[in-house]
Amino acid sequence: MIQKNISLLKYNTFGIDAISARFFEYKSEKELQDALKAGEITKPFLQIGGGSNLLFTRDYPGLILHSQIDGVEVIDENAESVWLRVGAGVVWDRFVAYCVDHEWYGAENLSYIPGEVGASAVQNIGAYGVEAKDLITKVETINLSGDKTIYDVKECHYGYRDSIFKHAPHCEEFVTYVTFRLSKIHKFNLNYGSVQEETDKYPELNLKNVRQAIINIRQTKLPEPEILGNAGSFYKNPVISGKMFGALQAEYPAIPFYQLPDDKVKIPAAWLIEQCGLKGFSDGDAGVHDKQPLVLINKGKAKGCEILALSDKIRKAVKDKFGIDLMPEVTII
Ligand code: EPU
Repeated sequence: MIQKNISLLKYNTFGIDAISARFFEYKSEKELQDALKAGEITKPFLQIGGGSNLLFTRDYPGLILHSQIDGVEVIDENAESVWLRVGAGVVWDRFVAYCVDHEWYGAENLSYIPGEVGASAVQNIGAYGVEAKDLITKVETINLSGDKTIYDVKECHYGYRDSIFKHAPHCEEFVTYVTFRLSKIHKFNLNYGSVQEETDKYPELNLKNVRQAIINIRQTKLPEPEILGNAGSFYKNPVISGKMFGALQAEYPAIPFYQLPDDKVKIPAAWLIEQCGLKGFSDGDAGVHDKQPLVLINKGKAKGCEILALSDKIRKAVKDKFGIDLMPEVTII
């Protein structure tokens, strides 16, 4: 049933009190298809997951949809792998915990990422050297006509926090289920940053301990949305040409970087923001997190437009100092 004038406060981790003119939560593909058939799903609309990647700068005049499709089902397995079909509304970290409990390898580095399974497949969430696309095998969607499509992972064109589902025409489809392949073979990915160092603190290298190590790293760097409103990384890490990087490195020899294929270089946006002296900066209740400056925070009653104004200030400072355009990773409404 479509609800009217719903507060979005509990549907966005930034803690912004915006209102949606219409709001619809569905628990099954059939419920969604019935609403489509009845003509209840009209444009403009916006799909949300856990609201962990959104900044509302104003009330939303259209329809907000939220999938509550539940369920984690083993659909196939062999000696090496298990395939799981998971409802788009399953909380991402519940899924990761389920895999860890069953001794299935692959998702543990993605522990404690806020959000839901449907959004993980749209956004290609990633952390500590692993991305959702490394595990996804299929994505099921329903379009505005109520028709179902099952995409193979290759058809989703995954990139860094990107997929076909973020762009027209596929952004008008509703992800209903995602299939993931997890491994039964004991194998870890500990190469990123301090992951090895954190796991070394445990007496044994196993899935539960790696998950706990990842949770510890995230908890020391990233604020808890219940305490400080935030949407994780506010910007993507910029990717620049090798030539531009060479010039920057000559001027800033300490600049951290990751070499990418095709003579491209990724620079941590956190470093750029810190160099601009903005780590820990705040303007009223809108702030830059003091442990991870890529994260913007709502220290209390910041309005979405105040967070956006702070974001503009950061982008301008980085552009003026380094000539780099930071692109928001969060969706700004
Ligand atoms: N850095 C600083 N100052 C800081 C913090 C970091 O200069 O205060 C520099 C350091 O050079 C550090 C580098 O930034 O080595 C990378 O920092 P970090 O490992 O914290 O990762 P990130 O690049 O800032 C990305 C993702 C995170 C993900 C982490 C870990 C993006 C936009 N963000 O952040 O994802 O958890 O890597 O894999 O790619 C998210 O998308 O919401 C998110 C939190």
